[in-house]
Amino acid sequence: MSFRARHLLGIEHLAPDEIRTILDLADRYVEFSRRTVKKSDALAGMTQINMFFENSTRTQASFELAGKRLGADVMNMSVAQSSVKKGETLIDTALTLNAMHPDLLVVRHHASGAVNLLAEKVNCAVLNAGDGRHEHPTQALLDALTIRRAKGRIQGLTVAICGDIQHSRVARSNLLLLGKMDNRVRLIGPPTLMPSGVAEFGCEVFDDMKAGLAGVDVVMMLRLQKERMDGGFIPSEREYFHRFGLDADKLAHAKEDAIVMHPGPMNRGVEIDGTIADDIQRSVIQEQVEMGVAVRMACIDLLAQNLRAERGRAAVEADV
Ligand code: NCD
Repeated sequence: MSFRARHLLGIEHLAPDEIRTILDLADRYVEFSRRTVKKSDALAGMTQINMFFENSTRTQASFELAGKRLGADVMNMSVAQSSVKKGETLIDTALTLNAMHPDLLVVRHHASGAVNLLAEKVNCAVLNAGDGRHEHPTQALLDALTIRRAKGRIQGLTVAICGDIQHSRVARSNLLLLGKMDNRVRLIGPPTLMPSGVAEFGCEVFDDMKAGLAGVDVVMMLRLQKERMDGGFIPSEREYFHRFGLDADKLAHAKEDAIVMHPGPMNRGVEIDGTIADDIQRSVIQEQVEMGVAVRMACIDLLAQNLRAERGRAAVEADV
């Protein structure tokens, strides 16, 4: 096993070997989750707290199921009812929870870097479930697992990431992961939704879908993140769909066996045509959801193993 980290904060900190370790274990959890009885005791007696400061449906459900299938006691902290609404800071909330001895904190926050900061203040394992526009490591890992299972490999592929790159932590984590695993990445989107420093990631940039999709193996669509936009980034949704929405006509430029991905939630008719999203010959969007639970199980399991080993070493040192 080569994954020895205390926290999972971003793809940035992972080596290719660590990524492979997570994906290999996740493959086993895919089979496990397809059984009728899907309960392990890997985390029996351990406590997992999910702190979601941003709305989430699938990611929170996925982390909750993952923890429960591993036998952890899982608590969801609903921010709507929490002291955060009364003015408490993120760090105070974290310290309060830390005093209750959780073993794992799963955190989503609207500010980039908030999860890293929190990890410095607590003595349990912290898993980043998305921080601002920064990183969403488990999304990139589940996307990698989906690609590896569909294509038989996760290197030497050409992957197009399309749409609202600027506001997307999914794009950033995927870009990092796909680069580390030696894939070619193309970013396609309007210049207004393309971050300024993209060139340093070593990817090609396009503002035309047909040119950008020519010959790609994977088409990854992104949601237009309206909640992170504060001005006129696009003329209209209709116009956006016409130029950048994935439809059969544009998809025809990709390889014949190219797969279509979307992290969800989807804006049908804005970034993707509903027929393409539902086409089980091309779309792996439902597989992504399934892989999500398995990847999160693998990450939680590995972090728990590392935490137990660390505590074991500390106990031995305290003894001598
Ligand atoms: C993504 C996110 O929250 O960053 N969704 C998700 O995790 N399922 C992408 C998005 O919100 O568009």
